[in-house]
Amino acid sequence: MDLVVRNGTVVTASGVSKADLGIADGRIAQIGGDFARDLPAIDAAGCFVMPGGIDVHTHLDSTDFNTQSADNFETGTIAAACGGTTTVIDFCAQAHGQSLADAIANWDSKAGDKAAIDYGYHIIIVDMNDAVFEELGTLPEKGITSFKLFMAYRGMNMIDDVTLLKALDQAKRSGALVMVHAENGDAADYLRDKFVAEGKTEPYYHALSRPSRVESEATARAIALAEIVGTSIYVVHLTCADALDELIRAKRRGVDAMAETCTQYLYLTKEDLARPDFEGAKFVFTPPARTVEDQEVLWDALANRVLETVSSDHCSWLFKGHKDKGKDDFRKIPNGAPGVEERLMMVYQGVNEGRISLTEFVDLVATRPAQVFGMFPKKGTIAVGSDADIVIWDPEAEFTITQSAMNNAMDYSSYEGHAVKGLPRDVLLRGKQIVRDREYIGTPGEGEFLRRDRYVPRN
Ligand code: URP
Ligand code: ZN
Ligand code: ZN
Ligand code: ZN
Repeated sequence: MDLVVRNGTVVTASGVSKADLGIADGRIAQIGGDFARDLPAIDAAGCFVMPGGIDVHTHLDSTDFNTQSADNFETGTIAAACGGTTTVIDFCAQAHGQSLADAIANWDSKAGDKAAIDYGYHIIIVDMNDAVFEELGTLPEKGITSFKLFMAYRGMNMIDDVTLLKALDQAKRSGALVMVHAENGDAADYLRDKFVAEGKTEPYYHALSRPSRVESEATARAIALAEIVGTSIYVVHLTCADALDELIRAKRRGVDAMAETCTQYLYLTKEDLARPDFEGAKFVFTPPARTVEDQEVLWDALANRVLETVSSDHCSWLFKGHKDKGKDDFRKIPNGAPGVEERLMMVYQGVNEGRISLTEFVDLVATRPAQVFGMFPKKGTIAVGSDADIVIWDPEAEFTITQSAMNNAMDYSSYEGHAVKGLPRDVLLRGKQIVRDREYIGTPGEGEFLRRDRYVPRN
């Protein structure tokens, strides 16, 4: 045994129990029972001992929106670690005309010597041709078992239904899961351009140009296409009751349709885009934040396990230098907001408020994402043989979120001023302590690329 975590309360998706944990060779080797007294130990008295968070939606070192994100793999994954996340699945983006092999080599060069935690890739497909179609089929052999397509952002990432059908077809054959950004891009662009023509150029019109129907139409269409191909589908960043209805209808038909929501949709509303002095630009992401009523519906769907996980959709566009490109025209504001560091502490407030249970919290932020994305039981749980990716969570620690205390490279937090109770104190990555008392003490580059298992449909 290399290390013992003593006196803690172990929390998994299936239960809570007081037990000491023994770690050997980077894995959990013993849960409960006796350990030699002289072993190196971490005292977790008064704390929960839970699996490291898994964030399946990050955009690190992104060059979307003709810009360069503030967070690269080093700052982004250090921030993740300090927030209690030990695995991210980042979006590896195909550039127009690029082969998928080149896209992957590009992401390897971004992540390789910088990642502070383990990481995998979803591949974003923007151009489909015969060669890309063939290449897609080989990705699961390389441990890349999810393909992402955008139904919005014409001129940047948007694909047509034929491309989505082909991706679904190849995913079904090769054992991958297709993820979609479900918004009707043309409808959003129509409304957007109409507002600007009327002189309505403030950030708030970003929200008004992407109403719920823009999202729910594409959600229903994406699910229908998956159903026609006869395969599974995963909708990223689902935000509203309207889209959730489409998901539930599909589940009732027996379709293996899944969705995530993101932290921002649980805490922000479209009124945040109306904050004065262009502050609303901080909350320009797609789909936009909705209403308090939608938030309630999303929390219920999380508690009822209709939604699989809460991811961050971490995008690090600075307020000064990136967002202000759209000072006179909201269409030029890069879309996205940060949150990889705040995700667990924010979702945990749902436990404090009685919206979700402690075990549901662990399931939502760690276990389900590991299961859906082919990492379970190596990741996402506390079990003998699993990687010792462990968070020691102090449920009594209090903190008022402020950007100056964050570890990312951003100049704002979406949750500035939000008081939270319950924080990750210490973090272990494969048995090695990388965060102590909320301070990063690891070595960038020690994160490893994760070869994920093929997707196994639930029906
Ligand atoms: O506004 C967002 N979400 N930006 C990131 C790209 C995406 O759509 O996920
Ligand atoms: Zn292209
Ligand atoms: Zn998206
Ligand atoms: Zn995203």
